Order: sequence, then structure tokens, then C-alpha cells
Amino acid sequence: MAQKKILKALEGQTLDVPPVWMMRQAGRYLPEYRATRAKAGDFLSLCYSPEWATEVTLQPIRRFGFDAAILFADILLIPQALGLDLWFVQGEGPRLSTIETNKDLQKLGKIESIHTTLSPVYETVSRLSKALPDDVTLIGFAGAPWTVATYMIAGRGTPDQGPAHNLMQTNTSVFEGLMERIVDATALYLIEQIKAGAEVIKIFDSWAGSLSPDDFNKYSKQPTEEIIRRVHKECGSVPIICFPKGANQAGYESFANMNGVSCLALGQDMDTDWAAKNLQSKVCLQGNLDPSHMVNGGTALVDAVNNICDSLANGPHIFNLGHGITPDADPNNVQLMIDTVRARSNR
Ligand code: CP3
Repeated sequence: MAQKKILKALEGQTLDVPPVWMMRQAGRYLPEYRATRAKAGDFLSLCYSPEWATEVTLQPIRRFGFDAAILFADILLIPQALGLDLWFVQGEGPRLSTIETNKDLQKLGKIESIHTTLSPVYETVSRLSKALPDDVTLIGFAGAPWTVATYMIAGRGTPDQGPAHNLMQTNTSVFEGLMERIVDATALYLIEQIKAGAEVIKIFDSWAGSLSPDDFNKYSKQPTEEIIRRVHKECGSVPIICFPKGANQAGYESFANMNGVSCLALGQDMDTDWAAKNLQSKVCLQGNLDPSHMVNGGTALVDAVNNICDSLANGPHIFNLGHGITPDADPNNVQLMIDTVRARSNR
């Protein structure tokens, strides 16, 4: 049986005190992150430097003692490894060259060549697995095909994922060809992360909520299921956390019934009482504090943490935010969140 708290929860154990980590826990709200990023030059140089990426992954572990570390990288490294240009515009976000036609699709490199670009990431995972304290779990990750495709089609973040929906409808074969390539690349990428030492994998489908029920099944659930099948075939039963962000209750139920899913991450929009009742007997639940509490703090934060923990106390639960922590968050509020979680006892 697993010894680390996160792995116990992922095995389905209900723990006295839920383990805790945070999406984007290595990020701009931390002065030590900003200092390392300045040394590395820019965000992508940081992602591709095993030395600096290891350092920033470890910073929140040192400062707060979280129960898990998440590899420092980005879901958009896969499009870059497939041959798209990628850059980040300060204060605005990512920009990529786009996939719109069959010709664009044919220009993408061979799937196996992604390892040339991504090998520094595997090196980071390997360094982390040696450097982390014994009780801290190392989480690797990738974006889900739909979310990654939305960026590859639009060339940037979009409020409604309009360009990806348009391509899906007007040129389904290009859209599906792209999805297939992302599935292939993502499975290979995750398998290498596990071989390098990742103990758990998280798959981020940040834009799952914009899909209609049929499209959700076809383009969020099925591709994710196929990636998990390939990963488990190659690596055995590594725990998988899925985050179909913004999906409705039927969508979450279909993920909970999927083969090979250990845990579902909940956005802050998800009703935890409903989730406890309908999902927690099948999977561990992770979440789901509104990240705005990390800016505002105070008794509202403490009450919200306790409400979430109360509501998810009768099954496996990993405490987390409902989305990534924002740059304007106060590290003291992160400490208050952890202290509040750890002061609890379910029994
Ligand atoms: O959680 C972690 O700490 C692990 C590392 C991680 C990052 N991005 C680092 C990052 C993870 C797991 C991601 C996932 C990611 N990246 C997602 C899915 C999760 C989500 O947030 O919905 C998406 C959609 C992206 C794409 C992306 N990366 C965007 C849209 C942006 C710009 C927005 C922003 O916050 O600046 C990024 C940049 C990014 N990725 C930063 C970090 C720490 C900020 C980079 C910086 O300026 O230092």
C-alpha cells in the first residue's frame, strides 16, 4: 500500500486530513519564482532548462511543504514539439503559428521527433524525482487534446474557442487529423514522463466546458480515454487525475465511469455536495477553492476551506484550488489555506 498521502487518496482511501497542493503553485505570486524567471530570461527558457525548472518546482515545496510537486512546464510545449512556432507576449499570453488546412497538418513533424524538443523536460522530471523529500508526490501532466487543439487552431487563447469550433464544423477531417496527432504525441510524452519518475499524471482539459454533450463525448472523453489506455498499457496502473474544467454534471459522471481514472479535479463552479454524492464513491475528488481567496484571504478563506473539506470528508479528497493561483495572490493566504486544511481532523 502507498505511503505518500496523495497516493493513498488516489488509491481511494479517506484520510484524516486531506493532502494539499495547488495548481500553478510555482508561479509569479512567489518572489523567488520571479527572481529565477528573470535569471532564466523568459518563460520558455525556464521550461526547457532542467536546472531552473527543477528549482522553481521545488520552491513552493520548500516554502509551504505541499504534499505534491507538479512538474514545471506548459501544455503548449507539445504544439511546439510538433513543429509550431510558440512565443509568449508579456501581459497577454501565448501565441502560436496555426493549423487551418490539410497542408498545415502535413507540415507537422513526425510524432516520435517530439522527444528531441521535450528531452529537457524528461531530464527535469528525473532530477525532481531524486530531489524531492520522501513524502512528496511528483505529478507530471499534459493538456488534453481538445484544449491543446484550441490553441493550435486559434494561435492564441480565445474566450469561446470559436476558431476550433469552426474548424470542427467546416473541416472535420483536418480537425480530427489534428486531434489524432495530439493524442499520439501526448501519450508518448506522458509515457516518457512516467519513465523519468512522474508518479501521477494530470490531464488538463481547461476548455472542456465549451463542448456540446455529443462533442464532449467525442472530443474530450474519448481522446482522453485513449491516452490513458496507451499510458496504462505501457506503464501499468499509474494514477491519473482528469480535469474536464467546466463540464456539466453528466460530463463529470461520464469521466468518473471511465476506465483508468483515479481522480477528478473540480473547478470552483462545481457543487461539492453533489460531487460527494455522485462521484466520490467511484473516484477521488480534488479541489476546489476559488483562487480569488488567495488574493483576499481572511475569514472568508477559512470558511470556504472548511466548507469544502466538510463536504468532501466522507471519501477520498485532495485539497486544491478550482483553477490556477493568480499572480496577484498573497503567499500569506496560501499559508493560511494550508494551516486551515492541516488543522482539520475528519475523525
Ligand atoms: O501548475 C503548475 O504549477 C505546473 C505548471 C503549469 C503551467 N501551465 C505553468 C505556467 C501547468 C500545469 C500549466 C497548464 C496550462 N498552461 C494550461 C491548463 C491549465 C489552465 O490554467 O487552465 C493552459 C491553458 C496553459 C497555457 C498557458 N500557459 C497560458 C494561457 C499562459 C498565459 C497565462 C498566464 O498565466 O500568464 C501560460 C503561461 C504559464 N504557464 C505561466 C506559468 C507559471 C506564467 C508564465 C510566466 O509569465 O512566468
